[in-house]
Amino acid sequence: MAESLVNAANRTIGESALEVGPFSYGLWRYTTPDVNKAQAILETALGSGMNLVDAADVYGFDWGGTGFGTVEELLGKVLAQAPQLRDQMVLATKGGIRPPIPYDSSATALRGACEDSMRRMGVDVIDVYQVHRPDMLTHPAEVAETLAALRDEGKIREAGVSNYTPDQVAALQAHLPFPLATTQPEYSAMHLDPLRDGTFDQAMALGIAPMAWSPLAGGRLATGDDVPPALLATLDELAAREGVDRSIISLAFVLAHPSAPICIVGTQTPERITGSLDALGVQLDRNDVYNIIEASEGVPLP
Ligand SMILES: NC(=O)c1ccc[n+]([C@@H]2O[C@H](COP(=O)([O-])OP(=O)(O)OC[C@H]3O[C@@H](n4cnc5c(N)ncnc54)[C@H](OP(=O)(O)O)[C@@H]3O)[C@@H](O)[C@H]2O)c1
Repeated sequence: MAESLVNAANRTIGESALEVGPFSYGLWRYTTPDVNKAQAILETALGSGMNLVDAADVYGFDWGGTGFGTVEELLGKVLAQAPQLRDQMVLATKGGIRPPIPYDSSATALRGACEDSMRRMGVDVIDVYQVHRPDMLTHPAEVAETLAALRDEGKIREAGVSNYTPDQVAALQAHLPFPLATTQPEYSAMHLDPLRDGTFDQAMALGIAPMAWSPLAGGRLATGDDVPPALLATLDELAAREGVDRSIISLAFVLAHPSAPICIVGTQTPERITGSLDALGVQLDRNDVYNIIEASEGVPLP
């Protein structure tokens, strides 16, 4: 049998050499009003090796939340009642989206966002602070200066970006006195842009860890809604062969790129969090992965 491309190894990110699992746990949908339930969900994720926890100040503003900052506040409540969990995680959050502007990464705004996030979560350092979306109206030198100052002050350990084009990454990196640790694009069997838009190539060239958001296309790859029939058929065929369900094949697909993406799991269902680990044992060879790409795009590769 051909070698599996699914990379189940831990990843090392940033100059601090933070070690994280192949899965991260994402908090976009972490909007339960029940703090004990929130603690149990987080413990399940951490217990499954998903030690890179991905929050954002804007989480809670949409998707079932009650407002800007409420997901970080919930995480803060969980950490207040279970402080031991802080040491078990590499804590990542994001700032820079300011509804309704929509983006503001100016020095005052980004510094304020970071400090507000620290206060909401009750932490004295953020391990990976990410600019959530590029603010096209702030010079990258200003963003870099803010991130470098926050790092010098010990408020953040590493910095990353999300939804940046490779050129935007290069422009920011050119002004930063330390390497970016992470870049966070959308990537799944339904959304293949990072394969060709330079995101993964740049990550491999510069040693930046890619974090793939919405690896199940927000759940569509599990439910099948609005998924091209050929892609569903290919995923189902592989699922039957591997003895797992289609969502597990979809997670394995994300882990099979040579840039070693960190796959951000977003389910709030404990059994689905632990079940995600089945993807680490899935065997996908080069032919399988190309079949998924071709089925997703609906045309054979040249
Ligand atoms: N940087 C950015 O701009 C950005 C944008 C979006 C997301 N993100 C990050 O990526 C993380 C993951 O995103 P995501 O939540 O969209 O991930 P996802 O894994 O693509 O989707 C998760 C959704 O799929 C559902 N689901 C999972 N398995 C299922 C199954 N077997 N059957 C039916 N439904 C299933 C979940 O429902 P249940 O919860 O009910 O299980 C949940 O609603 C976020 O938490 C966030 O950290 C970043």
